[in-house]
Amino acid sequence: MIERLSPPNPPLTDGVVALRPFRADDAPAITAACQDPDTQRWIPLIPVPYTEADARRYVLMTLQAWHDGGSAEFAIVEPGSDRLIGSIGVHLGPNPRRHAIGYWVAPEARGHGYATRAVRLATRWGFEQLHIERLALWTLPGNVASQVVAERAGFRFEALARNWEEDRDDRPIDAIMYAMTPEDLADAVAAETAPPAVPLAGVPRELWAAGTRAAPFVEIAAIADLAPGQMRRVTRADLDLLVAWTEDGIVVTDDRCPHMSAPLSIGDLAGCVVSCPLHEGRFDLCRGETVQMPTTGGLDADGVYHASWSPSGAAPKPEPASKKLEARRLTRVNRLRYYPARIRDGRLEAQLPILPE
Ligand code: FES
Repeated sequence: MIERLSPPNPPLTDGVVALRPFRADDAPAITAACQDPDTQRWIPLIPVPYTEADARRYVLMTLQAWHDGGSAEFAIVEPGSDRLIGSIGVHLGPNPRRHAIGYWVAPEARGHGYATRAVRLATRWGFEQLHIERLALWTLPGNVASQVVAERAGFRFEALARNWEEDRDDRPIDAIMYAMTPEDLADAVAAETAPPAVPLAGVPRELWAAGTRAAPFVEIAAIADLAPGQMRRVTRADLDLLVAWTEDGIVVTDDRCPHMSAPLSIGDLAGCVVSCPLHEGRFDLCRGETVQMPTTGGLDADGVYHASWSPSGAAPKPEPASKKLEARRLTRVNRLRYYPARIRDGRLEAQLPILPE
């Protein structure tokens, strides 16, 4: 615990949001924001129903926390108008490695990046002024918007903690832990001030490969060895990776066709779409989707059956013997899975699951 905690003066601001201590006249705006069902759902500590008396107690609690040195609690406001956007707090634990940050944003202010801006301001101030060595950020598994904010601000996913929190009825619920160290903060600042000249394609997080979210970044290629429109295979232990520089940027995925595992790196890349060297399957590397089912037919990623076909102009092929036909019918063309990537000092790095020596 820090004995004396003073709000920054002048208030923290990046020109789009500002952070200042709460005031008594914020109570009506806090009351309105905390009527939101999503806020109530993702923050079980918020009383339901939420009244202006609750908001007044909240303001007093935040001011007391500054006074006691237990927490740095800020109102997130719009500079100039002073309109309340949300709340953010750096909660101080017993030592510099046990602090945590939490936030909420009023429903009408969402979708503008205000939370990410507020988290950046509060973390930078906290690491500098409070000598934080590690800052945790907890959220619930279904709160994807909060997870996106954490990652954009430079926090790293660390764990799914089972039964860590409790819901409104005191039943245990899972929580997700992110954290930031001074090294993560330096990386985040560097990425903002010098955005990479080489683009990375934004891959949907639901397509990240298993075991990658908390995995360490591993160097997989020198950027100088890559070129737009090209693909190459990189092997790490028994993992064959495909590094493809698509029209949306670089992606790292498995060098295995999602149909029958042919190496995609010897196929053809056009824009985002790679053509497999076998069976005429075509796959969108930027979206992880099948553009053209293989000639053998089979199940698509959603389990829907597609009959075999012949390229236009070609004579229909005779159907194979029954076992082979059955195997084709039951073979599923999966979605592609990706390895989250970043560029550091001219190197392409990706989060790979822990590999055998
Ligand atoms: S192995 Fe690629 S389409 Fe069949």
